[in-house]
Amino acid sequence: MIEWTPRFSVSDETIDMQHQKLFSIMNDIIEAMKTSKADDRAFISEILKRLLDYTEYHFREEEIKFNATTYPKKTEHIRAHKEFIKKVEEMISKKDKGIPSLNAIQISNLTYSWLSNHILNFDKTYTDYITGKIK
Ligand SMILES: [Fe+2]
Ligand SMILES: [Fe+2]
Repeated sequence: MIEWTPRFSVSDETIDMQHQKLFSIMNDIIEAMKTSKADDRAFISEILKRLLDYTEYHFREEEIKFNATTYPKKTEHIRAHKEFIKKVEEMISKKDKGIPSLNAIQISNLTYSWLSNHILNFDKTYTDYITGKIK
């Protein structure tokens, strides 16, 4: 079970809620591992598509927020978002085509480590800008 704790907070309620939602979708992947659906390609692909949809929505929201400020890491932050989207799209495409690929455990490990590192190393760097501390 992946838990959102205050150390992930970016001091913005909307964004924090969206991060919690992302964690909850990843928990669905972990739940799937415990069932017979762990090897069900269509099922994993369906959860990954949900993760992809919500991640795209979340990244857009985040970019709108920090683009409205003088946040200096805009370009590299957006690049990091694009790289993650590409990674998830590749996972889905492999599942859909039946190409041997990551299993549910590997997928949840990978998405969790990417997202948690991203929040801690990237998202937290815009906090002072979106809260107006730095103008
Ligand atoms: Fe981000
Ligand atoms: Fe984020």
